Amino acid sequence: MSKVRITETVLRDAHQSLIATRMPTEQMLPIVEQLDNIGYNALEAWGGATFDASLRFLNEDPWERLRKIKSKAKKTPLQMLFRGQNILGYKHYADDVVDYFVQKAVANGIDIIRIFDALNDPRNIERAMKACIKEGGHAQGCICYTTSPYHNIDIFVKDAKTIESMGASSICIKDMAGLLVPYDAYNLVKALKESVNIPIELHTHYTSGCGSMTYLKAIEAGVDIIDCALSPLALGTSQPATEPIVATLQGTEYDTGLDLEALNDAANYFKGLREEYLASGLLDPKMLGVDAKALIYQVPGGMLSNLLSQLKQANAVDKYDEVLKEVPRVRADLGYPPLVTPTSQIVGSQAVLNVLSGERYKMVTKEAKGVVKGEYGRTPAPIDPEFAAKILKGEEAITCRPADLIEPELESIRSEIKEYIEQDEDVLSYALFPQPATNFFKKRQEKKYKFDAQNADFNDKTHPV
Ligand code: CO
Repeated sequence: MSKVRITETVLRDAHQSLIATRMPTEQMLPIVEQLDNIGYNALEAWGGATFDASLRFLNEDPWERLRKIKSKAKKTPLQMLFRGQNILGYKHYADDVVDYFVQKAVANGIDIIRIFDALNDPRNIERAMKACIKEGGHAQGCICYTTSPYHNIDIFVKDAKTIESMGASSICIKDMAGLLVPYDAYNLVKALKESVNIPIELHTHYTSGCGSMTYLKAIEAGVDIIDCALSPLALGTSQPATEPIVATLQGTEYDTGLDLEALNDAANYFKGLREEYLASGLLDPKMLGVDAKALIYQVPGGMLSNLLSQLKQANAVDKYDEVLKEVPRVRADLGYPPLVTPTSQIVGSQAVLNVLSGERYKMVTKEAKGVVKGEYGRTPAPIDPEFAAKILKGEEAITCRPADLIEPELESIRSEIKEYIEQDEDVLSYALFPQPATNFFKKRQEKKYKFDAQNADFNDKTHPV
């Protein structure tokens, strides 16, 4: 049958999940050539939270990171994660910004763009998919996996067919919370393989402890590609580990063809980094355990800790169980959104408010109202009209694609930061993260002036002193 291919996430999701996206480019570059030689399906190396974290915490230009990685990864496709019409940010952007971002991502070295929408609203991924196809990239559409009384295999198959009809080169089942258990994975992958003709990739997290088992059953059902992280930065909130999966499949019809010794050599490099992260406290051992609560409450582990800290701030930790029961009710009211950024925060905060105020929806957050109003797109299940009327209080719901209401914005953004632009891509950094980008631009300018002053030749008479 089919060889299973592996996408390596150690340069993106692994460190995003374990050390809050803090791996700097200089720690990646020494190992990229070695990773490039392994024979992975792809190296996931950009997008997600890496862009924001580069500018905000590492004082790095994310575009420069991409170019540097690309210069060392000449054979293996580079992959990025892309939040549909939100690009890499938290709001909807105009189509001209989406188009330009995709164009520049491909021009700087991205081969595969994995595109998802928190509500699985296909209208929110369509523009980015089209742009990717136009630029000659591999457009991968996502189904965000979730469980609810509304969600079932037929719904996911329908989503997959929609993605295929958009011209996607492949489909990813994105199980961001580690909720997909092994036998459900088997049934889901089997149904998808029978319904669509493009490759199916599975992305999970080890959070709930099921990840490797889930992959094995998905492989038996015919999944084409799985996402793994080299062992030193695997497990816990990260992906299942690459090496044991490769060893498991060796000599079977699913053999990945990857060399365990080559993987071990690369893993040794990351072992050193892991020790450093543990010693500095950047890697909290808590992140490495199994959090089985996610399996009971069907919510991402990160969301549970957020709820607890919100309740601590409100001095109401005793209400935790009540809030946990309220979460699925709010989620049902809001049309069963998958719990992923930003919907996980929206549902969680509203549940806390419903419990603490003593009356459901006595207070409604701006964001929860936004979901009901249609500002984020179409919810998976329709929202009860009576409930919507109560929340919207006469305001009209948005039924079109939210970005249809946004005028082109690239030119006005460009004029806002004229003084800082050193490369075309700067306008995109600013469009997505105005404040962190501006801070980065200022520091970059300072550094440059300092450098120029140090290197100035004061005897050079061609320049007036
Ligand atoms: Co992930």
